Amino acid sequence: MKKVFIYYSHTGNGDFVADILKEKEFEIRKIDTEKKVLPNPFFFKMIVGGFKATIGSAPKLSEFASNIEDFDEVYIGSPIWNARLATPTNTLLKELKLEGKKVTFVLYSGSGTSKGATKKISKLYPEARIINLKEPLKYKEEAANKLSF
Ligand SMILES: Cc1cc2nc3c(=O)[nH]c(=O)nc-3n(C[C@H](O)[C@H](O)[C@H](O)COP(=O)(O)O)c2cc1C
Repeated sequence: MKKVFIYYSHTGNGDFVADILKEKEFEIRKIDTEKKVLPNPFFFKMIVGGFKATIGSAPKLSEFASNIEDFDEVYIGSPIWNARLATPTNTLLKELKLEGKKVTFVLYSGSGTSKGATKKISKLYPEARIINLKEPLKYKEEAANKLSF
């Protein structure tokens, strides 16, 4: 079974997840945006990121390998912004052909919950599995346990 983890990370929690999955023989692909999507000051970051996630913004991504034909299982990693998927993940989902794939979403957040994202995923991909992680960089053991398959 060939597996790929395609993910976005703004502050490194997704990278920690990628390190765990790399050990499990996943191919790892990190996405980024062409232009910066979040301002630096914390307050503005939360306002701008939260607003853009709420309206479902989908910023242009830098070039990445979107071909997933060779994989049986696709894991998608996303931070949670204002309870929703981070905006680069919205673009990623538009660009991937996930039909016929076994899909798992690995969502990382401050709270370990992802209400809006879960709703969207359940609607678009009813078969997909969702793993919610609370700040993997801070709660490393808990994250590793939830990814022990
Ligand atoms: C713009 C923005 C909005 C966020 N909104 C939420 C939220 O609604 N709920 C939550 O639990 N965490 C929220 N967070 C925290 C991140 O989801 C969390 O720190 C996550 O682990 C970051 O992943 P990363 O380091 O891979 O970017 C937010 C972070 C940012 C930058």
